[in-house]
Amino acid sequence: MSPEVKPDFLISPEGLRLDGRRPDELRPIELKVGVLKQADGSASIKQGKTYIIAAAYGPRELHPKHLTLNDRAYLRVVYRMATFSVPDRKRPAPSRREREISMVIANALKPSLFLEEFPRTVVDVFIQVIQADGGTRCAAINAASLALADAGIPMRCLVPSVAVGKADGVLIVDLGDEEDKYGEGDVPMAILPTTNDITLLQQDGSFTREDLMEAMQSGLQACKYIHELQKDALKRAFGSRSPDDGGGDDDFDDDLETDLGESEIAGEDE
Ligand code: CDP
Repeated sequence: MSPEVKPDFLISPEGLRLDGRRPDELRPIELKVGVLKQADGSASIKQGKTYIIAAAYGPRELHPKHLTLNDRAYLRVVYRMATFSVPDRKRPAPSRREREISMVIANALKPSLFLEEFPRTVVDVFIQVIQADGGTRCAAINAASLALADAGIPMRCLVPSVAVGKADGVLIVDLGDEEDKYGEGDVPMAILPTTNDITLLQQDGSFTREDLMEAMQSGLQACKYIHELQKDALKRAFGSRSPDDGGGDDDFDDDLETDLGESEIAGEDE
């Protein structure tokens, strides 16, 4: 495979991005709920070329026991990238980056869940990145929140997430991989749409205060749009599924190998 070459520009003279999008335009997003037979809840997301599957289990008995929380369920999130998900083969061992992203995803989702209703149990969320093309932590949150809803975990609301950033001095929404790598910076965010509470806010690169405020406003609007797509996906799933067929989308549930070990556990800040 030829090495990736830094593009001459990220915003064309016509004001368009490398993939032809306008600065404030999101990638096409396809959400599906109930894509795995074995999981209590599941969802997939295709956001541009980024493709992720999330599976949720629980509330169920927690092992190892010493992680037990007496006043709430433990939300355990494992984010993993398939070895074939990136241009250079990703090493199969869990990386620091995967552990960090697992933790920030758990922290982004936790405020939406009534975990206190299930003390001494665990709610597991396994996230597998099948193909990464930027914005995987945000796309993972979009899918994981749907998987948790599909599993029937009581929640205040779904959690939509998107990254906003800057490329060639222009504010852009929903960064692709090259924009992420070669742009001036990015700000992944997630919100609770019912209250506008922000549950994820990270910053890579430097922004002026004004740029950051403007970026967050655009992110908020984009999250509200994604929230509508999430609700539509749930409606589609529950409108078309009989309660006892366990869901399952025959397109791609059987061959999926989610080799998720216990070692890359994240989710509690202690
Ligand atoms: O995916 P996200 O933007 O949330 O996280 P990141 O750590 O900022 O990574 C940005 C992008 O770099 C990912 O989405 C992947 O497309 C790419 N990446 C990669 O090519 N190889 C890796 N081992 C990790 C990330």
